[in-house]
Amino acid sequence: MSLNLEIELAGIRMDNPLMLASGILGICPSLIRRVAAAGAGAVVTKSIGLNAREGFPNPTVHIIKYYGLLNAMGLPNPGVDEVLKEFEGQKFSVPVIYSIYGSSPEEYSNVAKKLLKLNPVAFELNLSCPHVREVGSMVGQDPEMVYKVVNLVKSSVNVPVFAKLSPNVTDILEIASAAVKAGVDGIVAINTVKAMAIDVDLRKPLLGNIYGGLSGPAIKPIAIKIVYDLFENFKVPIVGVGGVCDWRDAVEFFLAGAWAIQIGSGILWRGVNIFGEVLNGLRRYMLENGFKCVEEMVGAGHR
Ligand code: SIN
Repeated sequence: MSLNLEIELAGIRMDNPLMLASGILGICPSLIRRVAAAGAGAVVTKSIGLNAREGFPNPTVHIIKYYGLLNAMGLPNPGVDEVLKEFEGQKFSVPVIYSIYGSSPEEYSNVAKKLLKLNPVAFELNLSCPHVREVGSMVGQDPEMVYKVVNLVKSSVNVPVFAKLSPNVTDILEIASAAVKAGVDGIVAINTVKAMAIDVDLRKPLLGNIYGGLSGPAIKPIAIKIVYDLFENFKVPIVGVGGVCDWRDAVEFFLAGAWAIQIGSGILWRGVNIFGEVLNGLRRYMLENGFKCVEEMVGAGHR
């Protein structure tokens, strides 16, 4: 039986459905190449803003045994103009999606317009950073704001726009609905879950910012439920993200309704070879279960 791992996501052709999630490896052409060589079908950059941001004081990350990774980086990035300098003229063998953040619809749209110089295949709007209030949670918790951001970016650029949503809301379907009404091309679910940890010896919070966002295995069931619900309610493609550490996790996301999968903190435990490992397992699973292409698996876990 011939097997096809290629997918088309909102018009973006990818050799396989595994993407590097935003944030985990920063914004750097050589890292993008490394991840592409390891087998990723597409790459999402760390979120880029209009101006440089230093981020939060250390410690900014903390590994929580068995469960995942706690982070509060504070959206550090050199600002869009520096990114343009670093990326101009660079060529990549996989589609590169630029993640952007802002504090207003205009700011998102201005960053997106500047990045057009790099011929991006798509933008991922970070509407969901849980611990940078003015540019993350405050935007992504307000359906009206989400509508305005997606609407303005969509009308400013002629490339697909994805919205990365936060689980830290009362009703994520209401937020997704606002993005869909504004014409979003796909939904990425989920960003990290608001969390914290305390050092029992120091009796102090472990993160410099006190709290942050949890990613990794502990949040996978939360992400699966959200992807499942999004699939039941919307027609736009869904990209699943949250705790993928092996091929079984990836398959679970497809069955829940994801068209593609992003891998982030799994890299911490398995290195960038995780892409090849998940792809091998995925191939085996598809062959053994009679799936000829990825699309056939999407939503197959729904009754
Ligand atoms: C960070 O830079 O603090 C994380 C960004 C995010 O979770 O969106």
